[in-house]
Amino acid sequence: MRGQDTKGYFEDESLGKAFDLRLAKRLLSYLKPYIGKSVLAVFLLLLIANAQLATPYLLKSIVDTLENDALADDAKLSLFGIIALVFAGLVVLRFLAEYLSGVLISIVGQNVTYDLRVRVFSHIQKMSLKFFDRNPVGRLITRSTNDIEALNQFISVGVMTTVQDVFMLGGIVLWMTFTSPGLTGIVLAITVPGVLGASIWFRGKARRSYRSSRAILARINSFSNENITGINTVQLFSRQNRNAAKFSQLSGDFQNEWIRAIRYQSIYSPIIENVGYLAAGAVLLFGAWQIAPGAAQHISLGTTVAFFGWVTMLFNPIRDLAMKYDIMQSAMASSERVFKILNRPEEIVNPAEPQPLEGFAGRIEFQNVWFAYDDENWVLKNVSFTVEPGQKIAFVGATGAGKSSVINLICRFYDIQRGRILIDGKDIREIDKYELRRKIGLVLQDVFLFSGSIADNISLGNPEIPREKIRQTAEYVNAAGFIEKLPDGYDSEVQERGATLSVGERQLLSFARALTYDPKILILDEATSNIDTHTEILIQDAVKKLMAERTSIVIAHRLSTIRNVNKIIVMHKGEIHEQGTHEALLRRDGIYRKLHRLQYKTEAGDKDSQE
Ligand SMILES: Nc1ncnc2c1ncn2[C@@H]1O[C@H](COP(=O)(O)OP(=O)(O)OP(=O)(O)O)[C@@H](O)[C@H]1O
Ligand SMILES: [Mg+2]
Repeated sequence: MRGQDTKGYFEDESLGKAFDLRLAKRLLSYLKPYIGKSVLAVFLLLLIANAQLATPYLLKSIVDTLENDALADDAKLSLFGIIALVFAGLVVLRFLAEYLSGVLISIVGQNVTYDLRVRVFSHIQKMSLKFFDRNPVGRLITRSTNDIEALNQFISVGVMTTVQDVFMLGGIVLWMTFTSPGLTGIVLAITVPGVLGASIWFRGKARRSYRSSRAILARINSFSNENITGINTVQLFSRQNRNAAKFSQLSGDFQNEWIRAIRYQSIYSPIIENVGYLAAGAVLLFGAWQIAPGAAQHISLGTTVAFFGWVTMLFNPIRDLAMKYDIMQSAMASSERVFKILNRPEEIVNPAEPQPLEGFAGRIEFQNVWFAYDDENWVLKNVSFTVEPGQKIAFVGATGAGKSSVINLICRFYDIQRGRILIDGKDIREIDKYELRRKIGLVLQDVFLFSGSIADNISLGNPEIPREKIRQTAEYVNAAGFIEKLPDGYDSEVQERGATLSVGERQLLSFARALTYDPKILILDEATSNIDTHTEILIQDAVKKLMAERTSIVIAHRLSTIRNVNKIIVMHKGEIHEQGTHEALLRRDGIYRKLHRLQYKTEAGDKDSQE
């Protein structure tokens, strides 16, 4: 467990800056298709801020009107009427603008999220298997779900409300300066140092505890994910109590960290508020001093009232911005991770002008192939062999000898480092990889079943394949028997990736899947696990049918299944140790003969014990 804790989990938790210009630019580039809506939204936000900021100014007008002894009562009344109308107009305007901007912002946010989500998913699908070797499934899922959602938050909450807050702050200062530059100076002199100091302190503290609470949360997530996925192993080794203890420890850490973060917030918020009250108090004091009898009047009573209004409005946006730091920070980290995936080029490059595969015969040739999954750990060393069209070839060898790797190369899931692979005489790198793969029927050691019905799993959801064809294929490869016994036959839902089907049944199902597309080349990586004798017979029979009239490559673990192939290739530590027919290899005193003798003995032993 400890080893896993440090491997991979933490990579997700590194948090960067809250604002990174390069990242922000790239993120904003996704706004381009919605630029009209975005600009309109920003304009509306500007309108909302000013509609709000106009209220104190209206109050000032009222007070100043009342105070103005030069005006007649009638004139005051009609001015009042106008102010009331303007106020009502502003209320309606704000209502409409808030509604419209809210809708626009979520439309833009959702659209950008949609674009990114689709792009990330299709990009991940195009990645080579090498990419998946290095990136655990869980992490990729987080990329296409949580991280994208964080970006949605960034756009619809982060950017837009930040814009709104900045408009408010800037607007307040502008309105104040416009009304009375002197008083503005006093207000700023009182507030700026306090707010700045408190915000810097809060930012530092909050960042630390936010960071570590995210780190703990990521560990909680991967811990539960792993232990629920591997529940049978957990139960088998009776790890439940130990796991529960570990989980409760992690959860406790998380709780403490959160409480600490909330504590910082609960200090910061009132500090900011009180700085605000201090400034408001100063404004009132200054106003009182101004209107005291005999004082030289610099500002009117109305101005005092208006400033009082603005100063109390000043602190919401400041507090908001400080609190939103979290969202910005995690969005930046998310976007960095998402872009890192999008930046990854496709490793298995398709040729610009692929060689046509017309009249495909299915000849496979390896010429001195050297291959390593990672740089220099050679998995295949100088491997050469040929499979003529229609031939049947078997690979045998100890586990880890490199048999499955040969298959990965024939399908061009990986590129080789040295040598050449020729398909029908053409270099595999000059063929369209999708076309190549369509010609190959691949049955793997572990059969992957998708959620959906049995029929969908055979046709892989291709609606052009009629039910009758599916039924025929299943019949042909002996899968129909067990399928028809299922409660809904071909429409039975595959549960939990086929956990309710046996290994043998899954294998039969995958034969049907491979045959549906009538491949020219059949590749079969035999399941290593034990299969009951009845199913074994069905599988043997199906394999024989599948291999007929096709170039076929079988990786066999039971030598009894491959007596009749054209050639047996014996792999040993990444090299071809010997090759030939069953008889020829038996005549040599090599690995094959040893393997054969071993298996024969155990099989004979099994028979003895049965008798
Ligand atoms: N995706 C991978 N990344 C890195 N190394 C790998 C990868 N897949 C296999 N290997 C390594 O390559 C070697 C050959 O593996 P391969 O799967 O080809 O063996 P195999 O002959 O099919 O064995 P088995 O009979 O158990 O299926 C092994 O040492 C294995 O650890
Ligand atoms: Mg294998």
